[in-house]
Amino acid sequence: TIVPVILSGGSGTRLWPMSRPEMPKQLLALTAEETMLQLTASRTHGEAFAAPIVVANARHADHIDEQLAAIGAAPQAVILEPVARNTAPAIALAALAAGTEDALLVMPSDHVIANVAAFHAAIDAAMPLVADGWLVTFGIAPDAPETGYGWIKIGEPLVDGVHRVARFVEKPIRARAEEMLAAGDHAWNGGIFLFRADIFLGELAAHAPAMLTATQDAMRLARREGTRIHPDADAFAASPSDSIDYAVMERAERVAVVPVDMGWNDVGSWDALHAISDLDSDGNAHRGEVLAIDTRGCLIRSDGIRIAAVGISDLIVVASGNDVLILPRGRSQEIKQLIEAMKSGG
Ligand code: GDD
Ligand code: MG
Repeated sequence: TIVPVILSGGSGTRLWPMSRPEMPKQLLALTAEETMLQLTASRTHGEAFAAPIVVANARHADHIDEQLAAIGAAPQAVILEPVARNTAPAIALAALAAGTEDALLVMPSDHVIANVAAFHAAIDAAMPLVADGWLVTFGIAPDAPETGYGWIKIGEPLVDGVHRVARFVEKPIRARAEEMLAAGDHAWNGGIFLFRADIFLGELAAHAPAMLTATQDAMRLARREGTRIHPDADAFAASPSDSIDYAVMERAERVAVVPVDMGWNDVGSWDALHAISDLDSDGNAHRGEVLAIDTRGCLIRSDGIRIAAVGISDLIVVASGNDVLILPRGRSQEIKQLIEAMKSGG
């Protein structure tokens, strides 16, 4: 069986004001009645999969237990990080908690996959190579020169539907992304990985030994209560901070990619959410207590107060708690600047 590993440590600042440090994107219901975490867990319900291991920020422990219990997806372990050290150490904790030869399916907790059958078929295609010791990624056909993703140059075919990764380029500069898009033989890295636990730990030993030692210490000294695992705080804090993409994927030799068309979206902004929403006949995606007359192409959402609008178009309006965000569609990436300005008291 395959052990799902759900990474739930991100803060999702680009979806402010709904996503906040105490209630980040993955814990919110953005695209459906279920939260992003619940949707992620439901994708690996079934005989082919063991109960998931969740790796999360310790402050979200109760939300995670409640949300998984609500859909009957009892985890085998919830590993609670005392501090964030990015994805490579988080995955190392899960690999150390799993059986050495278990295949780990590492998934972000905050993405949309519209076609789960295609996802499962891609996993099936990858399994023979995983058993053989390969690190497998899932490649999404690119349609823009994205600098926020990892890019994969698709190499020779290995088995049906699976190719060698000729090169892995994490977060390229714009010019490089444009070249790779034009070349036509590249995919985006979907941020989902499949490999044996022992193989991943072996790569860490080779490319990030300090990270391996720190996470081993953190798990050896961990405190356990039921399914909750609290890695030792001092040991874990001593780990270098790095993503799996930089620490392992760019450096490993035997990396494969399964190109897959599965309706993948990382819902990285309010614009992205508008783009994947079911729109009304005027192109709006409203949610919550919203009264909108003669509005077009808007995303208006509230999780509390009522929003009433007349005669506006192509705006994003989001109300949550005491905060209201208003901006034109197409500019939701600029929330980063807003957050910075608010931090510095602006
Ligand atoms: N437990 C834990 N601890 N989870 C974490 C941590 C951490 O310290 N940091 C991030 N995560 C989780 C996030 O919640 C998210 O679900 C996932 O790990 C990926 O982290 P991101 O921070 O969102 O990565 P990214 O978007 O910059 O880049 C990755 O995803 C892209 C696709 O969305 C890379 O894998 C790229 O190559 C890829 O294209
Ligand atoms: Mg991301």
